[in-house]
Amino acid sequence: MKEYITLSRFIIEEQRNYPGATGEFSSLFSDITTASKVVYREVNRAGIAEILGSTGSINVFGEEVQKLDEFALKTFVGVLSRGGYLAGMASEETVSVIKMPDDVPRGKYLFAFDPLDGSSNIDVNVSVGTIFGIWKRKDGEGDASEEDFLQPGKDIIASGYVVYGSSAMLVYTTGRGVHGFTLDPSVGEFILSHYDIKIPEKGKLYSANEGYYNRWSKAMKNYIEYLKEEDKEAGKPYSARYIGSLVSDFHRNLLKGGIFLYPADSKHPKGKLRLLYEAFPLSYIVEQAGGAATDGKRRILDIVPENIHQRIPLIIGSKRDVEKFREFVEKEGE
Ligand code: AHG
Ligand code: MN
Ligand code: MN
Repeated sequence: MKEYITLSRFIIEEQRNYPGATGEFSSLFSDITTASKVVYREVNRAGIAEILGSTGSINVFGEEVQKLDEFALKTFVGVLSRGGYLAGMASEETVSVIKMPDDVPRGKYLFAFDPLDGSSNIDVNVSVGTIFGIWKRKDGEGDASEEDFLQPGKDIIASGYVVYGSSAMLVYTTGRGVHGFTLDPSVGEFILSHYDIKIPEKGKLYSANEGYYNRWSKAMKNYIEYLKEEDKEAGKPYSARYIGSLVSDFHRNLLKGGIFLYPADSKHPKGKLRLLYEAFPLSYIVEQAGGAATDGKRRILDIVPENIHQRIPLIIGSKRDVEKFREFVEKEGE
């Protein structure tokens, strides 16, 4: 008989490898799956429910907030904040750390997330997703402060994302490989579908917003030109694939191999993507899958954030492709 392993079963078994595990972590994950199922349902019926489009309000970065951004934020906060395992939450859609309700005990975990990544694509049926990272607070009790969240990426204890696509898929790691679970809507359970995902060492795809070519550094321009050269033996030219929804671009490249690049450019001197709740979680996953992530100079996971909404250039994917990009940066000295 084919094995039917649910995410909750898998996590409980995985937690046996962590002596002293209290079960809080399993509860946290079980709540993440509940919240993501609710968001997936809403994303799916968005067109019919007429909640597409913007709320008319602007988020802390001056971007238009889509209704589903808000829905995803509220759902995750609503479900996770009652668990008693969190000291605080940080999200793309909220300026400061989100406080847990007064009547709920404070836990030891910190949860940083992008409630709905790629949401500008939502009204054209492009896959969106939730990205999250979990840290343990270093010290202190009570409510978490912004400083508690300023831990390096390498101290992350778990990260993951959920893609709300033709099916919903949850991919996560606790540092023991990367595993993918697909939602079986008939029973409402995430079922193990991709065990121990490994990203190919070298890919054939590159993902970058080439419309910004003229804003790029010399190293970035040269690297992309290099990928386009005709060279059969080196597996070139690469194919371009860019959805504009990080979680979906990343997911495809993780499974197929490739490199995603959102570098610094003349308009985004620090890059566009966010370190804490976009770059860190995906970098932890990619490394666990055998890939690499850099900002051009530093390994992403070595960076210590200066604030919870810090932006960072992100070059992430197959190991040899990321290394090649680094060579171009070293050559150009930037
Ligand atoms: P979000 O929807 O959470 O604001 O993120 C959008 C991000 C990311 O998903 C994507 O990779 C990137 O913005 C696309 O940016 P450009 O349109 O500048 O290429
Ligand atoms: Mn995002
Ligand atoms: Mn977002």
